[in-house]
Amino acid sequence: MRPQPYLEPMPLRGRISRAQPLGLPIVNVGFNELPYPPLPSVLTALHNTTAQAQSYGSPHCDALRDALAAQNGLDAEQIVCGNGSEELLDVIARCFARPGDAILISQFGYIQFALTANRVGATLIKAPEAAFTTDVDALLGAVTDQTRLVFLANPNNPTGTMVPLEALRRLARDLRPDIVLVLDLAYGEFAEAGYCDAVHKLVATHENVIVTRTFSKAYGLAGLRVGWCHAAPWMIPVIYAARGMGTVNAAAQAGAVAALGEQAGIDKQVAEIKSERARIAGALGQLGLEVIPSHTNFMMARFRDGSADLTEKLVEHLFDQGGFIVNRTREPGLEDFFRFSLHLPDNNDRLVACIRRFAAEAR
Ligand SMILES: Cc1ncc(COP(=O)(O)O)c(C=O)c1O
Repeated sequence: MRPQPYLEPMPLRGRISRAQPLGLPIVNVGFNELPYPPLPSVLTALHNTTAQAQSYGSPHCDALRDALAAQNGLDAEQIVCGNGSEELLDVIARCFARPGDAILISQFGYIQFALTANRVGATLIKAPEAAFTTDVDALLGAVTDQTRLVFLANPNNPTGTMVPLEALRRLARDLRPDIVLVLDLAYGEFAEAGYCDAVHKLVATHENVIVTRTFSKAYGLAGLRVGWCHAAPWMIPVIYAARGMGTVNAAAQAGAVAALGEQAGIDKQVAEIKSERARIAGALGQLGLEVIPSHTNFMMARFRDGSADLTEKLVEHLFDQGGFIVNRTREPGLEDFFRFSLHLPDNNDRLVACIRRFAAEAR
């Protein structure tokens, strides 16, 4: 007899682990990361802090919260930082959901929402989408007496789609005020200018809204693991009650502060990615692929007459012929899609060329 775990086991997902057969460098475009290395001032901050690694970082990330507050026009006392926004999603679920409660997400909502619901033993409810996009009315219609938490990534991963700000405002207005609404802006910087600022304003008018952000995407610091959330004052001590004391390490805090000081450079990188997004969507469209309109730094696409098997073959081909690791979208209803992050123009061109060759051979 074995001990009985409370959690559903989670096997590691198979990834391509063999050597690249042509000896090409590996380009991982499967994790929605940016292709740019940290800017020099960020590297300096990291170096200076690791040279002092005998000391703890600030447990409450004081300098980082001050910098975030100044940059975003917010109150530092309403910000909590975490070991990636992933930690904060987990912390929020632990604060507000238990077995018997329901966590509501959109049909193709970010996978971590489902994993988080599993961790706290809550029931996961999915509201149907239309055209791979969140349907706010379907979300509101799926609310029950058990609902404690709604997680919504806007823009969303893996679809890359988003609902307009007006729909978010309506969701915040019409959702029962005793239900926590988490608006995950991991890709908010890749939407239209001013979008993130407008979403943060919902926190002032709705005491149940939490906005989460990350340094992993637009700020290109995925490996440092820094995220943050912004919530009403009453929520902050609740969130701290569930978050570990020193989860954001000192180097990560210093790197994130330095990145905030490089906003012009960060904006330039985001603009480059957005321009590549339009260019590559056009190129794949010309190859006859269906490309789901993306508001992020990645995109989801499929062959129009494709299948999950064909996509599997494409994923193998892109690795074997180009060294690309792209993401096979495995969520039910998305099995024939693949997903990749926009990279430097040369690599994006190589990726399109590989897909073109595959399309020609597969037909
Ligand atoms: C929608 C969304 N939210 C949150 C995260 C978590 O990001 P991090 O933990 O790196 O901040 C991701 C990462 O891919 C994501 O796609």
